[in-house]
Amino acid sequence: MKAASAGGKRLLKALRREPVDQVPVWLMRQAGRYLPEYRKVRAEAGSFLDLCYTPDFAEEVTLQPIRRYGFDASILFSDILVVPDALGQPVAFKEGEGPVLEPIRNAGELAKLKSVEGLRDRLAPVYETVRRLRRSLPAETTLIGFAGAPWTVATYMVGGRGSPDQAAAKAWVYTAPDEFQKLIDLLVAATIEHLSAQIEAGAEVVQIFDTWAGSLPELSFRRFAMTPMAEIRTALKQRYPAVPVIGFPRGAGPMTAAYLDATGIDGLSLDTAMSPGWARDRLQGTTCLQGNLDPLLLVAGGSEMQRQVRHILDTLGHGPFIFNLGHGIVPQTPPDHVAELVELVREWRP
Ligand code: CP3
Repeated sequence: MKAASAGGKRLLKALRREPVDQVPVWLMRQAGRYLPEYRKVRAEAGSFLDLCYTPDFAEEVTLQPIRRYGFDASILFSDILVVPDALGQPVAFKEGEGPVLEPIRNAGELAKLKSVEGLRDRLAPVYETVRRLRRSLPAETTLIGFAGAPWTVATYMVGGRGSPDQAAAKAWVYTAPDEFQKLIDLLVAATIEHLSAQIEAGAEVVQIFDTWAGSLPELSFRRFAMTPMAEIRTALKQRYPAVPVIGFPRGAGPMTAAYLDATGIDGLSLDTAMSPGWARDRLQGTTCLQGNLDPLLLVAGGSEMQRQVRHILDTLGHGPFIFNLGHGIVPQTPPDHVAELVELVREWRP
């Protein structure tokens, strides 16, 4: 109520490049295994996908970090790999192994996937979770929907699992780029559909995770990371002009400037390696920045975490800016360190 009477939610104001009373803060993977209350629901749910597809469970684990820390934003609890799952490439999450899929490596296997038409029906429980969250979240908390970027999702679809070098997807990109383009086009359409359904169910902002953007050389980055993102952003803006879009092209380095020009996104999430000073000078004039504390500093805590949090705030905090990590929270993070981090951001003044 208070936030609403003061003219709106802090996170939305930052994304509209309006002044804020405090730097807004939320953390990638803020729901997850570092929280004992998550592990309890996770055990009850059985499999990770059952957790994602059961609105009672997914709503509960989304709300857990909001109750503990009062973040400015709540990110829907789901996964980027529900999209291939809904396209007819079943995903399993194996304990200690991560996601496993039957790999798709050529046009013939690609042709067996389902079309985008049925996606909304197959992911209906996810949109039901979004609808419930809009009712249950505090008035000042912004609800973020999300999807994986086509390139990152493709690396899992082609590799069949996570890989340190994305070699299987790259082999396809470099030997038959026009054929690989068909997979990317399908994922562009599926991502637009999935994000549209989340927005219609109540998501106020969407974030697109391109975790493996930085592994592509420039020419492939332009074609398979930047252009798809521009297409998704344009389609979403046509349908929902007021809904901000945040991009996370992890590891894009100096290509981030071209990415921002080409995509025109409202928010840009910075990875850990990005220099806050460079980002301020080169990027903050045209977009709201978000980031970029090393998740392992949050594990370590103490004076080194405090020093680096202040460095980020002193450099980027004059805005437009949203405090976040440079990548997701890791399971060994002590919950007390998260509380201390939120304190530090709340106390800081421009
Ligand atoms: O941020 C949030 O709190 C929202 C939920 C969220 C999850 N995954 C839950 C999850 C989000 C936004 C994601 C995104 C995601 N998923 C990405 C992009 C961002 C990134 O972290 O790079 C990627 C690449 C995935 C794919 C994925 N999902 C992998 C590789 C794994 C296994 C690794 C791991 O951390 O276990 C997952 C599983 C997953 N997704 C978990 C959670 C909480 C852990 C599963 C469990 O509880 O057993």
